[in-house]
Amino acid sequence: MPSEYKLVLKYADQPGYTPDLECYLRHGGYEILKKALALKPKTLPDGKTQSPQEQIRQEVMTSGLRGRGGAGFSCGLKWSFVDRKSGKPIYLICNADESEPGTFKDRQIIHKDPHQLLEGTIIACFANDVHLAYLYIRGEMPDGAKLLNKALAEARAKNFLGKNILGTGYSLEIYVHRGAGAYICGEETGLIESLEGKRPYPRIKPPYFPAVLGLWMCPTIVNNVETLCNVKHIVGMGGAEYARLGTPNNTGTRIVSLSGHVKRPGYYEIETGKVTIGQLINDPAFGGGLRPGRSLKAVIPGGSSAKVFKAGEKFKLKRKGPDGQVVEQEVDMLDLPYDFDSLIAAGSMSGSSAIIVMDDSTDIVAALANIAEFYAHESCGQCTPCREGSLWMSKALHRLTHGEGRASDADYLVKIADNVPGGRTICAFGEACSWPVQSFVGKFKDEFIAKGKADEERRMKECVEPGASKSAERKELAAHH
Ligand SMILES: Cc1cc2nc3c(=O)[nH]c(=O)nc-3n(C[C@H](O)[C@H](O)[C@H](O)COP(=O)(O)O)c2cc1C
Ligand code: SF4
Repeated sequence: MPSEYKLVLKYADQPGYTPDLECYLRHGGYEILKKALALKPKTLPDGKTQSPQEQIRQEVMTSGLRGRGGAGFSCGLKWSFVDRKSGKPIYLICNADESEPGTFKDRQIIHKDPHQLLEGTIIACFANDVHLAYLYIRGEMPDGAKLLNKALAEARAKNFLGKNILGTGYSLEIYVHRGAGAYICGEETGLIESLEGKRPYPRIKPPYFPAVLGLWMCPTIVNNVETLCNVKHIVGMGGAEYARLGTPNNTGTRIVSLSGHVKRPGYYEIETGKVTIGQLINDPAFGGGLRPGRSLKAVIPGGSSAKVFKAGEKFKLKRKGPDGQVVEQEVDMLDLPYDFDSLIAAGSMSGSSAIIVMDDSTDIVAALANIAEFYAHESCGQCTPCREGSLWMSKALHRLTHGEGRASDADYLVKIADNVPGGRTICAFGEACSWPVQSFVGKFKDEFIAKGKADEERRMKECVEPGASKSAERKELAAHH
């Protein structure tokens, strides 16, 4: 029987658990920070000495922790890229922008267990010789910002933060910075620009890799809220023990935001790869199945920018057989293990681990129109293919959902979507706005063509019967333009 595995959310939803420091301390809070700060230099078998900071970085590498913000990049590897020889200060930024539609996991941590995030962040800062860090929180989360500021004040008062933390000689200050509410502020270099007080225009990579040229052109680590919480647990249990959770190369737990047409939408923490998409949707421990009398139509597996899966889709995945041999197996979409690698192998991604379920009542054209409108609104506008392409796609989908579609719109949409990403844009938003269009139209093309055709036929009829053109739909369309 699949079930939740609560590591990061161990206490968050327990009755009586509150976000204040006293409660956190009663549940063993800040003990792992004390353990980290008390580490002594270690002599390795080759005679070299490993500093406490290096030991923690090694544990994170051993744990196999992959970033929980979207790309799933190795946390240990990211930390290893930090330029430690530049002589400049190293900064750490916690990415709490959480704007990917469908995602609502980071805010659970911030609202219910903010000190856990602080403890993880302080340990990550100590491990990386950081003395100034920022919690960059999405503008639309004012309560979260208040809670984090309160937690910071409580931690400062107990000297878990500030000068000479717990008498160890290590000093750190952390500030909350509120975004102004733009999706692109979640992209790490856009976030950095925003933190510097500018428009959140993503920077081109190379040369602006944050690990080398980040905040104020200094080496900078940007990590997601959930990633930083996991750092605390890795230091607590050891990297090797942590790596036993989940599946190889997909270690630890993930908090999945489950929304859409399921009986029990919500957030569920699972061992990565130990639960399938079908179990997350149908098992009573998770989504509890679809609404009565409905059948599954589609699933977006990793936030709105992930490519959609169609019910019944099958994929060829390489898996290790019982004898250790790698064999190719055909796997139904519902049987895909929810992890980083399986979803990539199936042509999509687990992204921000947000699953959006759509049953047969869904108007797939309208669903894509909704997503495309979001991306057209949120493009920062620096790159022509993204700025214009996202708008053209949204306009075509708007007319398809407002009685002005054309049968050729399906091909037109894919043509635009194919020409936005692929190295033509500064940041991955180009992919994020194109993947939904490519996959929705690619997998449900008949519905897009049928809608366009029906519109054309109706308009043709209206030409023959002119009075019909004064329909409410046409008036609304005229108002929109
Ligand atoms: C358009 C766009 C939006 C993003 N939004 C977020 C976000 O809201 N939160 C987040 O943690 N990462 C977001 N990311 C990913 C970040 O750029 C970055 O990779 C991440 O914060 C790194 O943290 P991690 O390695 O711990 O996952 C976004 C990326 C792109 C391209
Ligand atoms: S890809 Fe889009 S969001 Fe990213 S920098 Fe270019 S215009 Fe801005």
